[in-house]
Amino acid sequence: MRIGIPHETHTGEKRVATTPEVAAKLIKLGFEVALQKDAGSCAYLSDDAYRAVGVVIVDDVRELWTSSDVVLKVRAPGPNAELGCHEVDLMKVGATLISFIWPAQNPELLERLAARNVTVLAMDSVPRISRAQKLDALSSMANIAGYRAVIEAAQNFGRFFTGQVTAAGKVPPAKVFVIGAGVAGLAAIGAANGLGAIVRAMDTRPEVKDQVKSLGAEFVEVNYQEEGSGTGGYAKVMSEGYQKAQHDTIARQCSEVDIVITTALIPGKPAPKLITAEMVASMQDGSVIVDLASEQGGNCELTVPGEVVVRHGVSIVGYTDLTSRMARQSSQLYGTNLLRVLEELCPGKDGTTTVDMSDEMIRGATVVKNGEITWPPPAPKLYAAPAFTAPGITATPSPPITKKPLIPESLRNALFTLIAMGLLFGLGSSAPSAFMSHLMVFVLACFVGYMVIWNVRPALHTPLMSVTNAISSIIAIGALIQVSTPGLLMKVLAGSALVLTTVNMAGGFAVTQRMLRMFRRSE
Ligand code: NAI
Repeated sequence: MRIGIPHETHTGEKRVATTPEVAAKLIKLGFEVALQKDAGSCAYLSDDAYRAVGVVIVDDVRELWTSSDVVLKVRAPGPNAELGCHEVDLMKVGATLISFIWPAQNPELLERLAARNVTVLAMDSVPRISRAQKLDALSSMANIAGYRAVIEAAQNFGRFFTGQVTAAGKVPPAKVFVIGAGVAGLAAIGAANGLGAIVRAMDTRPEVKDQVKSLGAEFVEVNYQEEGSGTGGYAKVMSEGYQKAQHDTIARQCSEVDIVITTALIPGKPAPKLITAEMVASMQDGSVIVDLASEQGGNCELTVPGEVVVRHGVSIVGYTDLTSRMARQSSQLYGTNLLRVLEELCPGKDGTTTVDMSDEMIRGATVVKNGEITWPPPAPKLYAAPAFTAPGITATPSPPITKKPLIPESLRNALFTLIAMGLLFGLGSSAPSAFMSHLMVFVLACFVGYMVIWNVRPALHTPLMSVTNAISSIIAIGALIQVSTPGLLMKVLAGSALVLTTVNMAGGFAVTQRMLRMFRRSE
């Protein structure tokens, strides 16, 4: 089968659906790969680089479309001004198209594709389930957009991100507030933290709190209890009461921070307006807002999609093409997502594709199958969110259903204490005194260990574990004592213990050093 990759026609689109590196892997799957001349030029990928891995470069765009059994694209097909026709009408009947489609927003396009009797897999409809992560182009693109949002913020911000103490004076670190800690938000937190800023983040879904903390940011709570998780790993629309409390929290943050990066969105819904004109006016002159949701109407009232505007002395970045601004990286990641789709469609690696609708992942992405519209797909089977426990709760929209316990809690606690005391008394009166002193040390060690680890930031748990691992190699002392005892077996055992604990010790400290270097920054 031939895979065709046309030049993107959408104005300003610089990405291309495959790179030479990915094309080589597609050829290994048994496909012939054809690329429209100069299709990769905006992403700094030359035709020669494609040719070198065996890609056929086609000059005639009509020939490329009509000869391809599978078409890979970034943007949904649209009118081709050069040929004066719609790209769908160029497709071979019975061919397969894999690209972003946005079926909910483009019902007419879906009809047109169905009328052409083709099969279409929409990269925006890949279900967000763990098995489909490798296909998840939305996440790949959002990750790039989140990173790029920080770069755009830095470009428009007239100060350092990191704090500095210089001969010319002390510079405080920039404060960054990220609204919406989904894929783009988390990428933005990581990038801003890497540049040395103090980062705070907010989200309606409580399960992201630990992720936010592990990236080194502070999680800003809204003083209102409401579970924000909807289906499929996305958020839900919040109640009026929550929205009011959130408004107050965001207003407070805006007046304190230098940069706001906002990514809040629920798929298929207009972006919630979270930043009002008054909040913008409360920010210091020279502050920056980067609104990633600008294409869906923006999270900020004053955002102008596609532009940078200055309002009340604050630069508001509303670019809708953040991924195109890193076209080479985006093309590489998007191309890899497409490769993973094709690996699923072509398990035999024989250059032919089969769309298996019994596979939840493929079913979710398929929006048209042999001319029949199959969108929307059934909801993903499983989504389990962890229980929500937020401090500072003031109101409950729906009271939780509580089961009455068989034994009242106070009685249960008293019984537990009595049993524990009885056991300790029995142990103390029968066990040898040496055992009791060891038990005491053990209990105290557990207590101290618990208290120490409890106060360590989650981000530092891995270095802490590795250093603990290294210290636990104190077993080496025992091995050193034993190695000088007579008997070959003891010597061999003690010698092996020494070698292993040395590896453990050196490895533990090396890992700790490496991890700590990742967190070190000058504030
Ligand atoms: P996502 O669904 O992973 O994350 C959105 C987050 O916003 C979720 O964590 C959700 O819980 C949160 N959220 C929803 N409503 C909220 C509210 N009212 N208050 C606080 N948090 C709320 O989405 P992803 O993939 O991270 O994308 C984020 C945004 O970036 C989307 O608007 C997407 O369209 C946009 N994007 C923009 C690009 C550009 O070039 N401008 C490129 C790629 C993505």
